[in-house]
Amino acid sequence: MTSSSPRTVIRSTGMSVPEKVVTNADFEAIVDTSDEWITTRTGIKERRMCAEGQNTADMAAEAGRVTLADAGLDPDDVDILILSTATPDHLLPATACETQALLGCENAAAFDISAACAGWLYGVSLADAMITSGMHENVLVIGSEKMSAILDYTDRTTCVLFGDGAGAALVSVGGGNGRGILGTHMRTNGRQARLLWRPAGGAALPSTDETRSDRMEYVKQEGREIFKQAVMCMESACRHVLDSTDRRISDIDLVIPHQANIRIIDAVASRLGVERDRVFVNIDRYGNTSSASIPIALDEARRQGRVGEGSTILMTAFGGGLAWGASVVVL
Ligand SMILES: CC(C)(COP(=O)(O)OP(=O)(O)OC[C@H]1O[C@@H](n2cnc3c(N)ncnc32)[C@H](O)[C@@H]1OP(=O)(O)O)[C@@H](O)C(=O)NCCC(=O)NCCS
Repeated sequence: MTSSSPRTVIRSTGMSVPEKVVTNADFEAIVDTSDEWITTRTGIKERRMCAEGQNTADMAAEAGRVTLADAGLDPDDVDILILSTATPDHLLPATACETQALLGCENAAAFDISAACAGWLYGVSLADAMITSGMHENVLVIGSEKMSAILDYTDRTTCVLFGDGAGAALVSVGGGNGRGILGTHMRTNGRQARLLWRPAGGAALPSTDETRSDRMEYVKQEGREIFKQAVMCMESACRHVLDSTDRRISDIDLVIPHQANIRIIDAVASRLGVERDRVFVNIDRYGNTSSASIPIALDEARRQGRVGEGSTILMTAFGGGLAWGASVVVL
C-alpha cells in the first residue's frame, strides 16, 4: 500500500533493554559452541536477558514511556496502543492491556498483534491505515520480546541467536514537506509456517508432561531454509516498496533491516546494491530480538545521528509465519 501524500509520520522513538548482558563466552559454558562460531556464522557477540520477574510488558511500557517523552506527549494522548510480540506474558489477556495499565494510557484501546519478527512493521502499517482513515491521531506501536522465556538452552542451534528487548515508535497524524510513511509492502506464506514455530503450548497441542519432556514448548527452526527465505523475501519486499513509492535504492539514506544474522543482512544489502555504511547493524550487541529489532535499531540510528528529520529510510523485516515486509519512510 502506498500513499501519494502521506498523512502519517513517525514522530518519536524509544527503546528498553534489560541490563543483564549474556556474552558468547557465557554460552560456551552451557552448550557445545564457541565465540568464534557464533561470531562468524551470525555476527552476534552478546545479547540482553531479562532479570527474574522482568517481563514483556515491563520492557514494552519502558520503551513506550521513552517514546512518549521523546514526542513531548502524555500517556492520555495515545488513542491506540499496538503491541507486537511473539512472547506474550499470558495467553489471555493481550500483553498490550498490561502495558497500557503500566503506562497509564487511560484513553487508549490496546491490543496485541502476532506476526513474529515482522510484527512491528505490520503494526506501523496498521497504525498508518488507522490514521489515514481519520479514525485516530496517535498510535503507539511497540515491539517487545522476552525471547529468553521460549528458548531451549540445551539447543545450540537456536539459543545463541536471540535476545530480549523492546522498541517503540509513535505514529501520528502529520506529514508535509515530504515527510511521512510513503508506503509499505507486506506478505505472508503460511505454507511454510512450521519452518519456525513452537509446536506445543497452544490450543492445538496444550502442554503435557510429554510435550514438556520433548521440549516442544520451545522455538524450533530450520535454520538453513529460514536463511534462504529471509534473503529472498527481504530483497523482494524492498524492491516492491521502492517501486511503489517511486524511489531508488540511491534515494535511501539508511536501510534498517531486521537483525537476525549479519550474513542475511549482508546478502540483502549486496543484492540491493547498497554499501555497508548505509545499512544499520547492531546485531553484535542484541542478537535477534524478533519484533523489537527494527524499532530498537531505528531508535539507536536516530540517537546516534545516523538519521534525522528528512532522512529517507527503508525498513525491512522477516520472520516466522513466514511473514515479511518493507516500508519506506521519510522521518
Ligand atoms: C542458524 C544459523 C546461524 C546456522 O548457520 P549455518 O551456517 O546455516 O549452519 P548450519 O545449520 O549449516 O550448521 C553447520 C554446523 O554448525 C553446527 N552448529 C549449529 N549451531 C551451532 C552453534 N551455536 N555452535 C557451534 N556449532 C553450531 C550445526 O550443528 C552444524 O553441524 P554439523 O555440520 O555437524 O551438522 C543460520 O542458518 C541462520 O542464521 N539461519 C536463519 C535463522 C534466523 O534468522 N531465524 C530467525 C528468523 S527471524
